[in-house]
Amino acid sequence: MSSEARFGYEWNKYSALDPNYEKQFINWIFPLGADFFKGKKVLDAGCGMGRNSYWPLKWGVGEVTAFDYDQRSVAAAKKNLADFKNARVLFKSIYEISWQNEFDVAMSIGVIHHLAEPELALKKLVRALKPGGTLIVWVYSYEGNEWIKKYVSPIRKSLTSKLSVGLVHWLSYFFSLPLWLFVKIFKGPGDYFQQLSTFKFWHVQSIVFDQLIPEVANYWTKDEVRNLFKELELTDIKINRPPNNCGWTVIAKK
Ligand SMILES: C[S@@+](CC[C@H](N)C(=O)[O-])C[C@H]1O[C@@H](n2cnc3c(N)ncnc32)[C@H](O)[C@@H]1O
Repeated sequence: MSSEARFGYEWNKYSALDPNYEKQFINWIFPLGADFFKGKKVLDAGCGMGRNSYWPLKWGVGEVTAFDYDQRSVAAAKKNLADFKNARVLFKSIYEISWQNEFDVAMSIGVIHHLAEPELALKKLVRALKPGGTLIVWVYSYEGNEWIKKYVSPIRKSLTSKLSVGLVHWLSYFFSLPLWLFVKIFKGPGDYFQQLSTFKFWHVQSIVFDQLIPEVANYWTKDEVRNLFKELELTDIKINRPPNNCGWTVIAKK
């Protein structure tokens, strides 16, 4: 089963929108906010169940094209965005993007670090942008996630990415329960665990599950992220550290 299909299982199971997703999205696009999206034509690459397209649509975006490479994710996103006439959801691979100079904003949140060919995907995203358009990419950082790389990645690589996804979902309950109790009691350590302590149990379980299923999950240092972007047709590349300290938000102009 491919990573996309494994994520499809996740988005089929966790398809409901939750108000906490708004805070999460604002963290991922740091330091941009709601006003930035007003009237813009936006591409959401690897949209999952559509939770990141949902907020710009609420905030008055011009239009959104969201796509994912799994049919169950696409079905969940279609359902979540059905009320918006200015949204469309497509089944497509990021590698097959054929738009050129089309969008004011191309965003891809939590996708690029799971891809076998991240540079190619980024090149396609940049091509889809209009000149002067904005690229927004959020990826896992190495900094702040050293413990995941050290303790979780070996389990994911050697075991959970190979097991049936239903079984991993069941196992994720037993990993999540102690974590959830810990963050509820200690409200930390650090900003990310503090944020987790505000989430419901199912949300924490979905995050643990998400960590355990993919074949590929890169945790990049700031320098590695800079290298990924340096050959692209971009200017004004900013690599920002969002408040919860567990990723990099890259914002750049074409
Ligand atoms: C961790 S999920 C993030 C989903 C969404 N961006 C979010 O933040 O809720 C990664 C997503 O990337 C999608 N994906 C993986 N490979 C892809 C590809 N080649 N083209 C498009 N989407 C892809 C997966 O299907 C999955 O929905």
